[in-house]
Amino acid sequence: MIGLFDSGVGGLTVLKEVAKRLPEYSLLYLGDTARTPYGNKSPQVVASYGLQAARFLVERGARVLVVACNTVSAVGLEAIEQAYPSMPVFNVITPAVEVAARVSSHHRVGVMGTRALVASGIYQRLLAVHGRYQVTAQAAPLLVPLVEEGWLDKPETKRIVKHYLTPFKQAQVDTLVLACTHYPLLKPLIASRISRRVRVVDPAEATAIALEKWLTQNPETASTLSKGESRLYVTDLTPHTETIARSWLKRTITLERVSLD
Ligand code: DGL
Repeated sequence: MIGLFDSGVGGLTVLKEVAKRLPEYSLLYLGDTARTPYGNKSPQVVASYGLQAARFLVERGARVLVVACNTVSAVGLEAIEQAYPSMPVFNVITPAVEVAARVSSHHRVGVMGTRALVASGIYQRLLAVHGRYQVTAQAAPLLVPLVEEGWLDKPETKRIVKHYLTPFKQAQVDTLVLACTHYPLLKPLIASRISRRVRVVDPAEATAIALEKWLTQNPETASTLSKGESRLYVTDLTPHTETIARSWLKRTITLERVSLD
């Protein structure tokens, strides 16, 4: 199975992209809704939560892992790779960096993400491998609860988006990475508030494309992955969580509550 995890429901935006491109595979999803958000927590805590989530998925049969959380991808990836050295582990940052490096016309890249991701400096480090890029990074934590409330087009959300976009406009970025699972849901609003010349990169889409490509290039691993039913687990289950999951995935789904202890 392909196992994906996130700090909560946000990673469903990644699952959706993966399911769209690889509909035949059964997916195993874990959202740590009991401990979300991760974005304001310390790297040590985020890394330990990420490791627990990875272990849960591996124990339930995941043979390929997708870290569908930008924050864990930024600060917790190494711990997972060390714990599972022979496991293919995808993350949502590397594919987004590759897209950003490719599409950026003037090497001015904006990164909007969680506090922990911005503090990690990961985009600066990974983009430097591709060349000289001027990276402007801005944490936008208020967007997470707004998206979870479904306030995608409210005047309040528009004002907050405008505020968060200011440093990117000042830096005249030509590319903007939406480096948090929730932000792609605001892509139409964000795109309408910045210059049309700015390329908006969605890491969820970039990751699904990278995974699809890898599976095509690794048919032996792909053939061992099970097909059929997907299962979605969360560490806390409320009616609101179910409502969000259904509205984002646009289909009826069943969430199962599990404990990571
Ligand atoms: N899923 C998280 C991420 O992409 C955003 C929400 C959180 O802070 O946990 O980093």
